[in-house]
Amino acid sequence: MRKKIVAGNWKMNKTLQEGVALAQTVEQMASALSGGAQVVVAPPFLHLTEVKKVLKTVSIAAQNCAAESSGAYTGEVSAAMLKSAGIEYVILGHSERRAYYGETDAILAKKVDLALANGLTPIFCCGEVLSEREQNLHLGVVKTQLADALFHLSAEQFSRIVIAYEPVWAIGTGVTATSDQAQEMHHYIRGVLAEKYGAAVANEISILYGGSCKPSNAGELFANPDVDGGLIGGASLEAGDFIGIVKAF
Ligand code: 13P
Repeated sequence: MRKKIVAGNWKMNKTLQEGVALAQTVEQMASALSGGAQVVVAPPFLHLTEVKKVLKTVSIAAQNCAAESSGAYTGEVSAAMLKSAGIEYVILGHSERRAYYGETDAILAKKVDLALANGLTPIFCCGEVLSEREQNLHLGVVKTQLADALFHLSAEQFSRIVIAYEPVWAIGTGVTATSDQAQEMHHYIRGVLAEKYGAAVANEISILYGGSCKPSNAGELFANPDVDGGLIGGASLEAGDFIGIVKAF
């Protein structure tokens, strides 16, 4: 049975104190739930070790890691550093990093390798921009992102990846992919993975949806057979909304 995951990507929000307080409330609310999805929070780097201290049932993710293992890379944080701080997941290839920081699939391939080598679980983001969807190129765009950043991995390595499909036009816009659009893409991704790694591996990979997911639409999205959870931005900044999404399973 593949894992259901609801992960909150805080992006560049919350002071340290606000972040710890949010994590405490999320932990309290999540621990009162029985079973369901694995809840994950992804605070900014600075907050990780303090937030980690207040989590028990909730897992923790970084929002990025370096493409090099160590050395003279001012301002970077390595996968080994994250592992040493008890971090479990790392979001890689978010569209904001691709768009604003020039992250290419070639760079992401290196980050994925380092994350896996250090025992972190990458949450690999993929997704098309609006013009690509309008030209009906969305399936091909996502396939290329997966192939270029991930398909050098062995099946064993790949089985440790989580995929997040985040249509860029739905991120922070209030426009959510319809349930059918999400299912179409998730089903397509699983098919692409099955072609490359076989059905058994593809069936075990969690594929999360991200993009204006909120308590009011999460239930419909998560009801799809190939949608295994969500990567939540704005709605993860308020514990009640975030846990409302977790409860949608
Ligand atoms: P929103 O939920 O704010 O649209 O952001 C989604 C996202 O980018 C999560 O990584």
